[in-house]
Amino acid sequence: MGVYKKIKKTHEGHALLNIGSGPRTHCEWNNLDFSLYARLARHKRLTRFLNAVGLLSDFRYDNLRKIDPEIIHWDVYKGLPFHDNVFDFVYHSHFITHIDRDAAFFVTKECHRILKSGGIVRLVVPDLEQIVNLYNEAMADLDAARPGGNEKHAEAVDELFELMVRRSAWGTSRQSFLVNEHLNMLLTRISHMESCKILEI
Ligand SMILES: C[S@@+](CC[C@H](N)C(=O)[O-])C[C@H]1O[C@@H](n2cnc3c(N)ncnc32)[C@H](O)[C@@H]1O
Repeated sequence: MGVYKKIKKTHEGHALLNIGSGPRTHCEWNNLDFSLYARLARHKRLTRFLNAVGLLSDFRYDNLRKIDPEIIHWDVYKGLPFHDNVFDFVYHSHFITHIDRDAAFFVTKECHRILKSGGIVRLVVPDLEQIVNLYNEAMADLDAARPGGNEKHAEAVDELFELMVRRSAWGTSRQSFLVNEHLNMLLTRISHMESCKILEI
């Protein structure tokens, strides 16, 4: 595995890592993602050209320009490309549920490996309380025979159990790079949708 040595530090001297940042990056952080966004964000001229010839919508181009141009394009299935004990903080948000269960254990161990002693990992995952509330609302709609109750209930059950029992990755994680790239290219031509939804088909 290649090792990435150019690690950014904050003015206080802390090394921070955001894994699976997607387009939500902060320039003081080391941001890592394997999406097409991450790849393109590093190539300003190419993206300007793609936008000029109409292959990249204005919406996506604007999003790309906001991304940290030093974002690390990397697939975590290969491990984390850093030496041991280099980060003070590791953060990931709505990322761990997008990789296979075994990979989630592996990546968590990798986080531990790259953290300095006393370092902090903070992770954000879907909110069970919110999901349970949605389920309860759906049940109430179903009991009251409100229109759309069946669909809402089916969606709520799906949301509740799918995250608990899923073993394999959801979204782009297991898609080959070529498939990803072609889909994204096609989508740029037809979409003005919200960015994460486009990335996660
Ligand atoms: C739901 S988005 C979350 C984006 C952002 N962290 C947020 O909270 O808005 C999941 C992100 O994980 C990234 N991701 C999924 N599998 C990955 C992998 N194997 N390696 C690196 N990034 C991955 C996706 O590209 C996507 O940007």
